[in-house]
Amino acid sequence: MTRYGSFPGSRPRRLRTTPAMRRMVAETRLHPADLILPAFVREGIDAPVEIGSMPGVYQHTRDSLKKAAAEAVEAGVSGIMLFGVPLEEKKDGAGTVGTDPDGILQQGLRDVRAEVGDELIVMSDLCLDEFTDHGHCGVLDEQGRVDNDATLERYAEMAQVQADAGAHVVGPSGMMDGQIGVIRDALDQIGREDVAILAYTAKYSSAFYGPFREAVGSSLKGDRKTYQQDPANTRESLRELALDLEEGADMVMVKPAGPYLDILAKVAGEVDVPVAAYQISGEYSMIEAAAQRGWIDRDRAIMESLTGIKRAGANMILTYWATEVARRLG
Ligand code: PBG
Repeated sequence: MTRYGSFPGSRPRRLRTTPAMRRMVAETRLHPADLILPAFVREGIDAPVEIGSMPGVYQHTRDSLKKAAAEAVEAGVSGIMLFGVPLEEKKDGAGTVGTDPDGILQQGLRDVRAEVGDELIVMSDLCLDEFTDHGHCGVLDEQGRVDNDATLERYAEMAQVQADAGAHVVGPSGMMDGQIGVIRDALDQIGREDVAILAYTAKYSSAFYGPFREAVGSSLKGDRKTYQQDPANTRESLRELALDLEEGADMVMVKPAGPYLDILAKVAGEVDVPVAAYQISGEYSMIEAAAQRGWIDRDRAIMESLTGIKRAGANMILTYWATEVARRLG
């Protein structure tokens, strides 16, 4: 008697037998060009300062930033997202130094553009929190609440100054209502239709931003729950998405990435623009900390976390491991 099958009738393990077989059937492949490096440039230091809660990540000097950008290009990374860390005494209620053409972020943008030209997409965080003495992403009204529309005026100016300093892409991350439309208008008004907007569309109020607040020396006392989204919600991400696209976002982002893969998958399933995800500071620090204790295989955990983000639908991933991973892939 011929048997054409036996129990189990299906054997999915056949396609997992060897590395070559697994490689052939892999559905998700990371590529250096998927990756964008977030980087910090700090005013008034003469050597890079390692961020305590983010081992391996530095607040750069203007020089070391240029070097990091050049290394990212060399490794095949596609972009860099810049954050500025001004001198503490330069912070004020309006985040004035954020729109000073000679402010640290603008200097960093100019330096990086001079270093990399068009070989790396130079992006700029467009938000006030690094520059305000109260640490909020906007300006405050008399009651101390974040004033949405007054903040939009600051963002419009910021977009223009960042474009002048050489940003190819601006990344509004403050979660103010109407920010994308106002920024698009502001850029167009100065003839910078060429500058793209990567909208932080679904940005959740997350505990995992903790290490970033150290990275930028944030002065924030309270929280950002009146403007960043509640982790409990999905639908408001879809609403933010519709608004951002209507207002002119060229690309949209979900942030954080790992704890919000369901949101990322939904957003990626809805849109016809590129989708980015930001693997944020706390996601980085958790893996580094567990690895330091020998509790986790660092390299595998990094690759798995990034593969998961890409599998969920991200076209681009902002990650502090961008250069390292691009080198490994390359
Ligand atoms: C706001 C901004 C934040 C991050 C990126 N842009 C901080 C915040 O919203 O509190 C966090 C990034 C990270 O945690 O890696 N300018």
